[in-house]
Amino acid sequence: MTLRFRLLGICLASAVAASAQQVHAIGNIFKPLATPAEQSKNLSILTLAICAVIFVIVGGLTAYAVFKYRRPAGDDQSEPAQVYGSNQIEIAWTVIPILIVFVLTMSTARVIAALQDKRQIAGQLDVTVVGHQWWWEFRYPALNVVTANELHVPLSAPDKPRQTYLKLESADVAHSFWVPQLSGKTDVIPNRTNHMWFDPKETGIYLGNCAEYCGTQHANMLIRVVVDTPEDFDKWVAAQKELAQAQQARDAFLAISCVNCHTVSGTTAAGKFGPDLTHLMSRQTIASGMIPNTAENLRAWIKDPQEIKPGNLMPNMQLNEKEIDQVVAYLASLK
Ligand code: CUA
Repeated sequence: MTLRFRLLGICLASAVAASAQQVHAIGNIFKPLATPAEQSKNLSILTLAICAVIFVIVGGLTAYAVFKYRRPAGDDQSEPAQVYGSNQIEIAWTVIPILIVFVLTMSTARVIAALQDKRQIAGQLDVTVVGHQWWWEFRYPALNVVTANELHVPLSAPDKPRQTYLKLESADVAHSFWVPQLSGKTDVIPNRTNHMWFDPKETGIYLGNCAEYCGTQHANMLIRVVVDTPEDFDKWVAAQKELAQAQQARDAFLAISCVNCHTVSGTTAAGKFGPDLTHLMSRQTIASGMIPNTAENLRAWIKDPQEIKPGNLMPNMQLNEKEIDQVVAYLASLK
């Protein structure tokens, strides 16, 4: 086994163990698990069936003619009878292909129209996908969540359909977003926005890849779509937001003048006038043993330290409610 395949095996095995979720087979367009993939499959089968019938008829007639009209023994080498201008035959081989092309065109147009129809259904999820060399950025504008390479979307149950709409953009060169069991390929092109949607019908991990050559690591520009139950999806979103909120709380704290008097090691807060807050939550009390270190007391203290301990050197910072929330949230994380 080459190193590459061993690494791939380890990655896949650990991902499966970590999520305990079913990984759907790679690239199987004949096992669709969403409406767009299903419609593409049905169209492919129709096209393949029509082509198969044409192949059998043309191939069969050719084989028959080759066998039946092969040169007989004792052929006199004279030219056989020539047939010119049979109206019936010419009409037949003009009209039949036109009908076949018409059927293929109309059924393709119907599927394309259905796939490009951006129906507005309650509970839909909008995601902006940005292709980069050689990774994927996923933004959920309504949820204020940003992630990469592993796209989480909710399951679409028959009684509660939930579509995911993708806005496809590129930061550099042309890519193509392709998760075969969810939908066909759609190009991801700089300075242009393309769209795609799907409604996954089973939970699990769907594998896909970039389908447009985009540079040396094109083959390793892989996609994982993790289809969660609606409950798991909401949990995932909440966990993503928790981190974002913690980050915001930290930024808010560092932007306020708290940092002039207090130290939190590992940050820009390096003040020496007040107590070091690096491990604030490991202490049982605040205000030098006056009150228990609870969220409510921290909040009251930050709101107006002078009310709790008149004359102490920490002024009322006149923070608004939102700032107080963020400072309390940040302090609560200093374990
Ligand atoms: Cu991105 Cu190929």
